[in-house]
Amino acid sequence: MPKQTQIAVVGSGYVGLVAAVCFAEMGHNVICVDNDERKVSALQGGDTLIHEIYLPELLQRYRNTKVRFMTDLAEATRECEAIFIAVGTPQSETGDADLSYVEAVACEIARSITSYKVIVEKSTVPVYTNEWIRRAIERNGVARDMFDVVSNPEFLREGTAVSDFLHPDRIVVGADSDRAAAVLREIYAPLTSGEYYTKEDAIPGPCGVNAAPPLLNTSTKSAEIIKHASNAFLAVKISFINAVSNLCEATDANVEQVAIGMGLDARIGPRFLRPGIGYGGSCFPKDVAAFRSVADQLGVDFSLLSEVEKINGQQKKRFLNKVRTALWTLRGKKLGVLGLSFKGETDDIRESPAIELVEMLLAEGCSVKAFDPAAMERTAERLPAGPNLEYVESSYAAADDADALLILTDWAEFAKLDLKRLNTALRYPIVIDGRNLYDPHAMVEHGMTYISVGRPTANPPREHA
Ligand code: UDX
Repeated sequence: MPKQTQIAVVGSGYVGLVAAVCFAEMGHNVICVDNDERKVSALQGGDTLIHEIYLPELLQRYRNTKVRFMTDLAEATRECEAIFIAVGTPQSETGDADLSYVEAVACEIARSITSYKVIVEKSTVPVYTNEWIRRAIERNGVARDMFDVVSNPEFLREGTAVSDFLHPDRIVVGADSDRAAAVLREIYAPLTSGEYYTKEDAIPGPCGVNAAPPLLNTSTKSAEIIKHASNAFLAVKISFINAVSNLCEATDANVEQVAIGMGLDARIGPRFLRPGIGYGGSCFPKDVAAFRSVADQLGVDFSLLSEVEKINGQQKKRFLNKVRTALWTLRGKKLGVLGLSFKGETDDIRESPAIELVEMLLAEGCSVKAFDPAAMERTAERLPAGPNLEYVESSYAAADDADALLILTDWAEFAKLDLKRLNTALRYPIVIDGRNLYDPHAMVEHGMTYISVGRPTANPPREHA
């Protein structure tokens, strides 16, 4: 029977909240601390504040029992053996990660340490942060043998966050002390032993696989680099396939066939080879910039990452050009837009390429009717409705009387639209799909002109008089 650990999680954002309820699901007792009182009382009342599958039911199951929410970090520090720091590390103006929240939390923890604590970096942080945290705690008068600092990066994705947390490909524990590594091994034992996966009501994995993950012990610096390098590598993969999709467009080849052919090579693998309108979200843009900045500061040439960012920016402009090519001029055109979040199944709009494109279209003089299943409220705060921008209640309402329909986010429901109804709703049956959600033949069968990414444009046969 794995041991129950008293765990504090500092920060109730995506990573912190998901970690808190998942640690409870693994059998531990958790205190989730946030300095935002409104957030804490919403969470205590069962409001998850973010759109994420399985989160509401786990919060319901454990709130105010195995997971308590509070603002008092001192109390949480006193009560818990392991303290996970999961606060934001936003991008600063120079591209570096802004670590001021991490530092503030480390100092506050230091002031309440009265017995041995393992302090765990869960936020994505640059290499050497571990050392800075250690120094900050020592500077606040804590003896070296009263604490250890461990790096345990998190690899969850939004939209599948709970499943990813409980079914990770690997658990990375960067620790320079055996005592601290042992605490982390115990915390993750329900997963690494496979015990969790035998539970009747275990949360299923993102691909339904229930294999026990390996736990990789590394140095703290290696663990910090693993997180940044993993995200940067995935961004490289996406920019690479986006560049290949542009080559496919120039040659009338089909990027889908190319990606399948590449992905069947086990050394490459099929995932993260979906071309589109560029990556977005709270991680990739920030982490690629931060990793590049770390390399710069250490005198290491990693200009590959600048190219990755460049391709990512160009991908949005290429999409805008596709709209221009399809419609000739843009001023005054009425466009339906499907999708505002940075990817499907989430209401997160941070660094959303979809919203950037809407802004570009508005700047070109288009009028936009937009629909998103979960992200409209948040988008409207940033981009209020006005004479040229309307938020509507369904995909068909977005298509209504539009000169073309644009698909900008890969929500599963956008791949299952009634094409006949869509064709009737549109003024001109033109669909410009930035996420390759449809089979071009099906679109042509429904009388649509279908423009996608890295695949030949599909036109219905011309009618002869
Ligand atoms: C990412 C990492 O996957 C995760 O491991 C890390 O912990 C946080 O950052 P997330 O930002 O939630 O997760 O989303 P992800 O599914 O990775 O997608 C990121 C962006 O890349 C999205 O804009 C998505 O649309 C885009 N993407 C992804 C592609 O354009 N093509 C792909 O093949 C995959």
